[in-house]
Amino acid sequence: MDLIIARNRDDLVKARTGGEVALVPTMGALHEGHRSLIRLARARADRVVVSIFVNPLQFGPSEDFSRYPRTFDADLEVCRSEGVDVVFHPSAGDMYHPDRQVSLRSGRMGEIVEGASRPGHFDGVLTVVLKLFNLVQPHVAIFGQKDAQQLALIRRMVADLDVPVEIIGAPTVREPDGLALSSRNRYLSAADRQVALALSRALRAGAAEPVPSRIRAAAHAVLDAAGPELDVDYLVLVDPATFTEVQESYTGEAVLAVAAKVGSTRLIDNVTLTLNPT
Ligand code: PAF
Repeated sequence: MDLIIARNRDDLVKARTGGEVALVPTMGALHEGHRSLIRLARARADRVVVSIFVNPLQFGPSEDFSRYPRTFDADLEVCRSEGVDVVFHPSAGDMYHPDRQVSLRSGRMGEIVEGASRPGHFDGVLTVVLKLFNLVQPHVAIFGQKDAQQLALIRRMVADLDVPVEIIGAPTVREPDGLALSSRNRYLSAADRQVALALSRALRAGAAEPVPSRIRAAAHAVLDAAGPELDVDYLVLVDPATFTEVQESYTGEAVLAVAAKVGSTRLIDNVTLTLNPT
């Protein structure tokens, strides 16, 4: 069947059909990481809807909303080649009424770690994701583990608000040299890109250690060695469900997450580790 392009909410509602629906929410500038989300969606449902919407609500006033890469024609080709059924590509005016009043608050978990550096970011993410769920009415929705705190907050929203959708987290896709794929990687110069490799190197160094203090120290050592071109925002080792720092005696899954600026580009990355009783 031909790809349906729904450019507003009415078109999207008309494109609804029966069967299991999987939603892959994106902001476009699709790369191999998005392809892997779409493939997971394909495997899980009869119909795949990809939303492409650069959501103004989740960008702070000094962030990159206006320069965020917009590559709609190339994105459509990716969707076509992956057998996507519907692309939902609304305008900001269609998604948000000028007189809208109600939006979601992400709570304490939205104010820590990434949320501390990007006030209001997760409120904007949750508001648009809930709108997308209401519009598309998917059975499953796929999000990348690369945005680990976003994924955790979406799981919390679904649990706290009884949203009838199954959330699937998809593994981060990396370049052969370790750099996590991101739409923002295209901002990096060749020199920036070399500096940016310190993020995944730091996570690997941390992951090779057995306990929180040594994990943090090993990862910090790599970040420190990267020099002043790497402007580290945070390195945390957190409980994946709450994003609070884990204690030395913690056992189970933990997320080692890092955020840093390289030039004017802000990058995030993380790995999931299993901490065993010693
Ligand atoms: O991860 C993203 O690209 C965005 O935060 C999302 C989930 C599409 C919401 O705008």
